[in-house]
Amino acid sequence: MAVAVAGEEIALFNVDGTVYAIGDICTHAEASLSEGDFYDNMVECPLHGSGFDVTTGKAMVLPAMGNSGKYAVKVEDGAIFVDPVPVTPRSTR
Ligand code: FES
Repeated sequence: MAVAVAGEEIALFNVDGTVYAIGDICTHAEASLSEGDFYDNMVECPLHGSGFDVTTGKAMVLPAMGNSGKYAVKVEDGAIFVDPVPVTPRSTR
């Protein structure tokens, strides 16, 4: 799912019960990654098919080459908290 936190567009993914947060905007041509297919730990961009590791934000499948950004997540009493300052910043290559 996509959320906006302090102006950051962030996509949340649940991988075997652990929540991960990466930048929602594809580093290739700015499609929304939260609208892509999601399997194992990979999300596929809905526009041109780039694959991103949702645990790191790293582009794994071309044409995207940059990291979408990774954010710290904390889950407390069923509520999800995301730090809007990226652990790993977005990059285009
Ligand atoms: S916009 Fe994501 S692969 Fe092109």
